[in-house]
Amino acid sequence: MVTHRIALIPGDGIGQEVTPAACRVLDAVGRRHGIAFVYDEFDWSCARYTELGAMMPADGLDRIRHHDAVLLGAVGDPSVPDHVSLWGLLIPIRRTFRQYVNLRPVKVFEGVDSPVRGAAAMDLVVVRENVEGEYSEVGGRFGRGFPEEMAVQESVFTRTGVSRIAEYAFTLAAGRRKHVTSATKSNGIVHTMPFWDEVVAETASSHPDVRWRAEHIDALCAKVVLDPARFDVIVGSNLFGDILSDLTAAVAGSIGIAPSANINPERDFPSMFEPVHGSAPDIAGRGVANPLGAIWTAALMLDHLGHAEAAAEVERAIADVLAKTPVRTPDLGGTATTDAFTAEVLEQLSLGALLTYAAPGATG
Ligand code: NAI
Ligand code: MG
Repeated sequence: MVTHRIALIPGDGIGQEVTPAACRVLDAVGRRHGIAFVYDEFDWSCARYTELGAMMPADGLDRIRHHDAVLLGAVGDPSVPDHVSLWGLLIPIRRTFRQYVNLRPVKVFEGVDSPVRGAAAMDLVVVRENVEGEYSEVGGRFGRGFPEEMAVQESVFTRTGVSRIAEYAFTLAAGRRKHVTSATKSNGIVHTMPFWDEVVAETASSHPDVRWRAEHIDALCAKVVLDPARFDVIVGSNLFGDILSDLTAAVAGSIGIAPSANINPERDFPSMFEPVHGSAPDIAGRGVANPLGAIWTAALMLDHLGHAEAAAEVERAIADVLAKTPVRTPDLGGTATTDAFTAEVLEQLSLGALLTYAAPGATG
């Protein structure tokens, strides 16, 4: 029996509703694979900010530094500016724990309608640079309140930062369909983006088995909508990767499906796993949030913790619910509650186990 200590941060809104679903699935699959999860729950959130003036305590990062992973729901509340929730919690965790890879797999499940024609065969991963680039703290406001008031925000791209994210993307692609698309905008952004292109090209030269091309972000967005199936791994800067991954999630049918992992590949620090969606204040508290993104996120966590088989079982259970049953939350056109959908995932998980037991070796 292996035990993993997980720092659990449900956060705000539907984060509170989808993380328990993810834990139920983790516990169920863990029981069959000899994996136990111990969850230390933290109330870090906008609710805490409103009450105590900070998203997390001053020693917050130290409290979760030695956990095996962080599982987060979502943070955000209409009464708190979004930059407070982002810079008060998510960004400090990503940066302090050197989670420089943000991994966002996307695929269209059988049984889910994409709003886009020809998306059924889409199966791609967005690899987003997660600690530098456009989301920098360099800059400022000047002449506040005067007509000439101005704001400057500098992008920061380092050779280390670009080459390690490119390396991650090419290595990932080598184990998939061997194709990388690099998001750029070197025609308009004339310093940082040509530098990004150069470093990506250097990295590509040490991966001759992986084909690659650079695409301008604007044209790339159009191509993702027009022909999503042609992409395998898309690597992008912090901003481009952020935008692309919401776009690809929408093309896959609902943002409620999409998972993400903030990874520290060196494993010096815990990695953090969170669905792509936010706290969805418009549906929070009604018990109808789609837990699929959070459950798939849990599968990414299992994989990272070395349990590839358990991760694959969870993914298969999700796919089975969508392909074999009509159970859907409202965002996918159904009427199921979060709990009902989760119960169906648990059901498919145990059916899958029975089948595996009945025909050992029959399922890979
Ligand atoms: P959102 O993702 O919360 O919601 C966008 C739309 O998608 C809403 O109509 C919502 O109902 C729907 N939706 C999202 N997740 C869903 C799910 N699991 N099931 C069913 N429907 C779902 O994005 P929005 O509205 O822009 O942001 C709301 C708050 O969340 C803001 O405060 C924002 O800053 C925060 N946020 C936090 C993130 C995080 O914690 N990583 C990421 C994105 C936004
Ligand atoms: Mg985003």
